Amino acid sequence: MTFSADRSTMIEFRDVHKYYGDYHALRGISGEIKSGEFFSLLGPSGCGKTTLLRTIAGFEGISSGAVLIDGKDTAGIPPNKRPTNMVFQSYAIFPHLTVAENVGFGLRRDPRSAAEKSRAVDEALEMVGLKGYGGRAANALSGGQRQRVALARALILKPKVLLLDEPLSALDKKMRELMQVELIKLQRQVGITFILVTHDQEEALVMSDRIAVMFEGEIAQLADPETLYRRPNSRKVADFIGTMNFIPCEVLSQGMDTIEVDAKGLGRVTLSTDQAPPPNGKESPVVGLRPETLTLLYPGQSTQDRTVDGVVDEVIYFGDMTYYDVYIGGTDVEVRLSMRNVPGRPILDVGTQVQLAWNPSALVLFR
Ligand SMILES: Nc1ncnc2c1ncn2[C@@H]1O[C@H](COP(=O)(O)OP(=O)(O)OP(=O)(O)O)[C@@H](O)[C@H]1O
Ligand SMILES: [Mg+2]
Repeated sequence: MTFSADRSTMIEFRDVHKYYGDYHALRGISGEIKSGEFFSLLGPSGCGKTTLLRTIAGFEGISSGAVLIDGKDTAGIPPNKRPTNMVFQSYAIFPHLTVAENVGFGLRRDPRSAAEKSRAVDEALEMVGLKGYGGRAANALSGGQRQRVALARALILKPKVLLLDEPLSALDKKMRELMQVELIKLQRQVGITFILVTHDQEEALVMSDRIAVMFEGEIAQLADPETLYRRPNSRKVADFIGTMNFIPCEVLSQGMDTIEVDAKGLGRVTLSTDQAPPPNGKESPVVGLRPETLTLLYPGQSTQDRTVDGVVDEVIYFGDMTYYDVYIGGTDVEVRLSMRNVPGRPILDVGTQVQLAWNPSALVLFR
């Protein structure tokens, strides 16, 4: 990820609140989305992603706060006067029109000549990989092709910001992964700001320059994918993004730069303070450890890292990977670890005594 932080601000949320009657759907959203950024709103169903996206488009008024686009407060500006365009989850393709008519739909009142508009339609179709499809009936398209038509129809209006509400959720896994890559390429090519709503954490990690993780109407963390994955700021975020082992621990001492903890099964560990996000004080402390940061040592292998003994409790075979659930340090603490399956590396059986290598720098302390 090479997103430069020095770009200008395209969208700014200033303490945005939204009520639906008594229901507090957005609870003080603040943050900025940069110009040219691929930005995702990620969170579980009902957390307010669509609502927040619709406040940018102007389909949803806000109860207090402000939404600025390109430096201008959007209060009172209707959707069709905003430099945004939205691609809906359902695509909303007109089945009785051709592909070209669908794509050109937004140009109905455009003063340009028919030939110029037709050229614009062709250009947009080419952009989304549908060159030559203009004459087809829209209802004769696959799901992936409909998605492309919806994109072309939005892009032809040359918005500064493209808003995408779960645009890939109706596609099967293979098609979704293909479209993810195409969307990234398309965004680089057109260079405009893309804001994607998704509840799929993998999709958000793959596609985004930065991600806002939302729970219950609030942004829990706003960061680039690597930071979210390696340094989640709360147990909740850590749990939502990928898989994380949580190991109970006791905080022994807190210094200026280091924190000393005793983690069940692992023993005493010294962490740097940047491995510990601000405490929330509500839960008993745990250290988090990702499955790929634990390594099985095969007979004869040695390591510079720390080691812990374990017993294999579960083996989950994934083709390219195997997950092992392992009790560690003679305790009832079980961790999941992932190992790449390579030739010559046998899959272990349940009950095997193993040694795991791990490094304190991979831990995150939540307290
Ligand atoms: N028009 C409305 N009237 C009342 N409540 C609403 C309205 N629109 C949304 N809500 C409520 O606001 C909350 C947030 O809804 P929103 O659609 O933004 O969630 P979401 O994060 O997009 O979820 P999903 O992933 O299921 O699409 C939900 O609890 C929802 O029921
Ligand atoms: Mg939604």
